Amino acid sequence: MANSQSNNALMLAVIFLACTLNLGFGEIRYSIPEELERGTFVGNVAEDLGLNVRQLSARKCRLVSADGRQYLEVNLETGVLFVNERIDRELLCAQAPTCILAFQIIIENPLEMHRGEVEILDVNDNSPGFPESAIVLQMAESIAAGSRFPLESALDPDVGTNTVTDYKISPNEHFGLKVRTREDSTKIAELLLEKPLDRERQASFQLILTALDGGIPHRSGTIQISIIVLDINDNAPVFEHEVYRASLMENAPLGTLVMRVNAVDRDQGTNAELKYSFTNLVSQRARELFILDPETGEVRVQELLDFEEANNYELDVQAVDNGSPAIAGHSKVLIKLIDMNDNAPEITLTSLSSKVSENAAPGTVIALIDVMDRDSGANGQVHCQIPTEMPLKLQSILKGHYKLITSGVLDRETAPLYNIPVLARDSGSPPLSTNKTIQILVSDVNDNAPRFSRPVYTVYVMENNAPGASISVVTAFDPDLDQNSYVSYSLKGNLQNSPVSTYLNVNSMNGTIYALRSFDYEHLKTFQVQVQARDAGVPPLSSSATVNVIILDQNDNAPLIVSPSARSGSAAGEVVPQSADQGYLVTKIIATDADSGQNARLSYQILQATDPTLFAVARHSGQIRTMRSISEQDETTQRLVVVVRDNGQPSLSSTVTIFLLILANVTEKISETSNLVSNPGYSSDLNLYLIVAFGSTSFIFLVTIVLLVGVKCHQDRNIIQGHWAPVCCCRPMNSKDIFTRAPAPTDPLNYTGTAQNIPFPESYHYSVCLSPESSKSEFLFLKPYNPPAPQGQC
Ligand SMILES: *[C@@H]1O[C@H](CO)[C@@H](O)[C@H](O)[C@H]1NC(C)=O
Ligand SMILES: *[C@@H]1O[C@H](CO)[C@@H](O)[C@H](O)[C@H]1NC(C)=O
Repeated sequence: MANSQSNNALMLAVIFLACTLNLGFGEIRYSIPEELERGTFVGNVAEDLGLNVRQLSARKCRLVSADGRQYLEVNLETGVLFVNERIDRELLCAQAPTCILAFQIIIENPLEMHRGEVEILDVNDNSPGFPESAIVLQMAESIAAGSRFPLESALDPDVGTNTVTDYKISPNEHFGLKVRTREDSTKIAELLLEKPLDRERQASFQLILTALDGGIPHRSGTIQISIIVLDINDNAPVFEHEVYRASLMENAPLGTLVMRVNAVDRDQGTNAELKYSFTNLVSQRARELFILDPETGEVRVQELLDFEEANNYELDVQAVDNGSPAIAGHSKVLIKLIDMNDNAPEITLTSLSSKVSENAAPGTVIALIDVMDRDSGANGQVHCQIPTEMPLKLQSILKGHYKLITSGVLDRETAPLYNIPVLARDSGSPPLSTNKTIQILVSDVNDNAPRFSRPVYTVYVMENNAPGASISVVTAFDPDLDQNSYVSYSLKGNLQNSPVSTYLNVNSMNGTIYALRSFDYEHLKTFQVQVQARDAGVPPLSSSATVNVIILDQNDNAPLIVSPSARSGSAAGEVVPQSADQGYLVTKIIATDADSGQNARLSYQILQATDPTLFAVARHSGQIRTMRSISEQDETTQRLVVVVRDNGQPSLSSTVTIFLLILANVTEKISETSNLVSNPGYSSDLNLYLIVAFGSTSFIFLVTIVLLVGVKCHQDRNIIQGHWAPVCCCRPMNSKDIFTRAPAPTDPLNYTGTAQNIPFPESYHYSVCLSPESSKSEFLFLKPYNPPAPQGQC
């Protein structure tokens, strides 16, 4: 190979020599390639200069080069110029396009000087080489296609075609190479971006750049190019989901994690550093309720959520990277709240007639009630009720609307107002309820007549009362209200053919009853009036009561002595048989008292007597009896003054004077006198003779009287009974009893009636009880004149 190269170079040199000689430049000129072996023939100088080879050595031929280095030498024997030393054209001439090695051949005797040149021709003995071992390029991924990056040139010391003529780059998708030739015909290479970069697809490239020279054969050198693609914020953050959905109980505790959003950014570094936030679309209220952690993307509850405020939220979230400019990615979080039963029902009274008349018909609307629950679903379903025991009920009109109506009869007098607890309860679990009390007043209707406190009033009035004094008060009560309850009183009826108003008056306002007259018990003992009470309603209602006025007795009458009566003058006369025994009934004093009760309870007492030892009067019966037998020494005319007192306070009295004539020949009924005699209580030393004598004279007279009076008594018995006067026997009885019944001896004087501190409130009877011995005594009692001495006691 080296030989063939040398041969080629030699041939070129010869051709070149011929040319240069013809041109006449210098004297001799040769061309040789560089890097020839030492001794390589360059040219025959002797021949070319026309010198005699044999004289060369003699004439001291020598070769002188300009720089003193002997690259070439002349063989003095042959006159041949040969390579004395290896010639490196690059060393000798660097990059000069032609490399001339100039020399002079000097010959002495005679001195001749010839100039000669050897052109050193380039041989491709160097490969292209790069000054660095590698190239590192950084380029943003965003640079446009067509951008060029100058590359470092490779160096090749050879010249001409032997130096760098071309570059190549290792095959790749994005980069090509553009080779340009400069003014000095050196080649430079530029890297050309043919296809845009994407760091996210390929972040770096390793390419090989090859420099080629034009020598034959080619020589080449390579260098590695590292391309680092720099990130550009060209990717938006992307959320994992376009929409995040979450359900949440209302009233969830603060800080509850609702959702965690996550986005990724394919960029690098700060371009991929993300911050989460709500977008402007999110309302202020939603921002108060929820908080989004910018770092972690956690959405948490920040304030208590209320289903009733809003039941769902749409939160637009964004993730913004830290690039410049920053790019945002978007998503949204849909939050659905789940209702909790956290609202009690609300009760609203929409209309209320605060008063309802007590005669309102059942079904009258009193109030409209609205109930509402802010919860939804079952939590918002409300049921409304009131207690069932009231005469009121709730009726549903529409959902959530009720009317309160009367369902029964109202009575203001028993229930003037109703406090109705309305209970509304929802259907949540647990249910919530609300209470509201409605007050309904029942207004009055005049449906009650005044009512007297008693149906019958009994009023006791002492006779001789002062006219105009109040004697009693009646009251009537009307349970109605106001004027329906204002009661006025009035009296009604007639009394003894004159209007009752002449007797009594009633204060129409307060029911005080006044007596207008002074009453006389002995004339009017009792009477009855009707008092009426009337209210002021429209129309008025009234009722009446009975007032029984009972006039009470006063001791205003003195006893009246009926028998024995003084026929003329002041004294009465009686005849006593001298034979009358001890205990003989001489006579009986009969007295009456127009008063009654104690005022008419009479007692008898001897006030004066001719002989106080002879006669005694029974204290209660008024019977005068002998205390001993009459003796002949006794005066035949005896005078007795008997006083009759009633038991009133103070008591009133009357006196009677009786003259007793003791006669010896008065006949007496034997059976009776003997009975009396046999009575040990009456045993005395009466003069039997006197009794017999006096008794016998009286007997005939007596029988006559008995017959007369017996008929008269039978005719008058009704009159006797109807009168106040003493009624025979101990209890009321008909007139027949007077004659037939033997009264019990045990109740000589009897007051019947109620025992009260007011004396004798009821009518009573002052009864005289007759002794069982003789009906004759009764006849005596009824006999107006000359009564014989009755017997028995009361
Ligand atoms: C409603 O009122 C009634 C009666 O006053 C009472 O018994 C009941 O407990 C109350 N209910 C509520 C929920 O307040
Ligand atoms: C009734 O009214 C009269 C007159 O005003 C009065 O004198 C009397 O005391 C009253 N009676 C009562 C029981 O209030």
